Amino acid sequence: MKQLQAELHMAMLMITHDLGIVANMADEVVVMYHGRVMEAGSLDDIFRDPRHPYLRALMRAVPRFNMAPGERLTPIREARASTEHLISGAARPHVAHAHDGPLLTVRGLTKRFTTRRTSWFGAKPGGEVLAVDDVSLEVRRGECLGLVGESGCGKTTTAKMIMRAMRPDAGEIVFNEQGVPRDVLALEGDDLFAYRRKVQFVFQDPFSSLNPRMTAYDIISEPLVIHRIGDADERFARVKELMGLVGLDIRFLRRYPHSFSGGQRQRIGIARALALSPELLLCDEPVSALDVSVQAQVLNLLLDLQDALSLTYILISHNLAVVNYLADRIAVMCAGRIVEVASYDELFRNPVHPYTRALFAAVPDPDLDRKLDFAALMEGKASNPAAWPQPFCLDGSVKLPLLDVGDGHLVRASADADVSELRA
Ligand SMILES: Nc1ncnc2c1ncn2[C@@H]1O[C@H](COP(=O)(O)OP(=O)(O)O)[C@@H](O)[C@H]1O
Ligand SMILES: [Mg+2]
Repeated sequence: MKQLQAELHMAMLMITHDLGIVANMADEVVVMYHGRVMEAGSLDDIFRDPRHPYLRALMRAVPRFNMAPGERLTPIREARASTEHLISGAARPHVAHAHDGPLLTVRGLTKRFTTRRTSWFGAKPGGEVLAVDDVSLEVRRGECLGLVGESGCGKTTTAKMIMRAMRPDAGEIVFNEQGVPRDVLALEGDDLFAYRRKVQFVFQDPFSSLNPRMTAYDIISEPLVIHRIGDADERFARVKELMGLVGLDIRFLRRYPHSFSGGQRQRIGIARALALSPELLLCDEPVSALDVSVQAQVLNLLLDLQDALSLTYILISHNLAVVNYLADRIAVMCAGRIVEVASYDELFRNPVHPYTRALFAAVPDPDLDRKLDFAALMEGKASNPAAWPQPFCLDGSVKLPLLDVGDGHLVRASADADVSELRA
């Protein structure tokens, strides 16, 4: 758009709630709130010296890269969650044991989709998509593992296979059940039913993932009904507790999804996922469908719940700043493969893989001192493994190992690459 604007000498009016985009695109900014112009001025004036409380609040609510360790986002409207009473209650915190090993181990997971093209002459076999290619991961008990990568790189497919909602073509998934390794792909019957209690999913789109014909009460209590937990009174008490936990007013119990805002709906989805006291929560783009002004609420809620309930998360997102805010370790995925894994501060300080670097460079940060570097985006070739320079280039069917460049920082590169040079 910038290029077009320059070529055609045109003016542009850009309407967005994303301050990162504003910081990178605009010359002048007008801030609207409740139908009125609240503040207007040059980009510098607005970002370096925001005056209106709404704008200031908005700036504190967006995850940024330059956040101090432990700094919390300040939601525009705080949703008060009641987690205090939980430690003693029915929530059963999952106590970690030092000798326990990882909670979930994924090895060599692979999934191929065949797409059919329909033409006038009927269905023809089309191309094959290698959606997930030899993915290996370890998730430690109590941590939040971030899984990042652009849309279409295989994140959701990976999560679906871990959840046993989709069969992989190859690979292994091992769930650590109090020290006993369970082969997830071999689970059947009662064992599979029991696994479903331990691993739950928070969906990306709170508008389509909740059944419009069910009340909030029905939605949150359904897992309890399916798993035959408690009688009607106990379920009612549990739903009330869950609603308090995610900061929803229990007077809304009988309302239908359409009467809730996006943020409230996502909190219903989270309450439902927590109903069975799971150990592992797979959060697939939990805030990407939400307005930035409510993202902070949901992110803080996930942060507090993890702490209060000793949960383990896999957090899937295409937004590195979001992952940065919650994750202890980050796995970067591109074209079905994991290309880099590191703790979040190591990844932020020393990104090694060209794709990771491009991903960092591609996030519009609401910080005038960290403007988008269009050159670092490799002219859109960053997500093409064949265009990566040596020793990362993946041309054709070349398989490269994940090398440890120090302290568990893994990078997919040629086995003969100089490890010390990569990290420098
Ligand atoms: N059911 C399916 N049938 C065919 N192709 C699929 C199916 N699900 C996903 N894909 C393809 O697999 C790739 C990975 O998809 P997905 O896991 O949804 O990516 P992400 O969650 O990272 O955006 C994409 O190319 C997508 O088009
Ligand atoms: Mg997805």
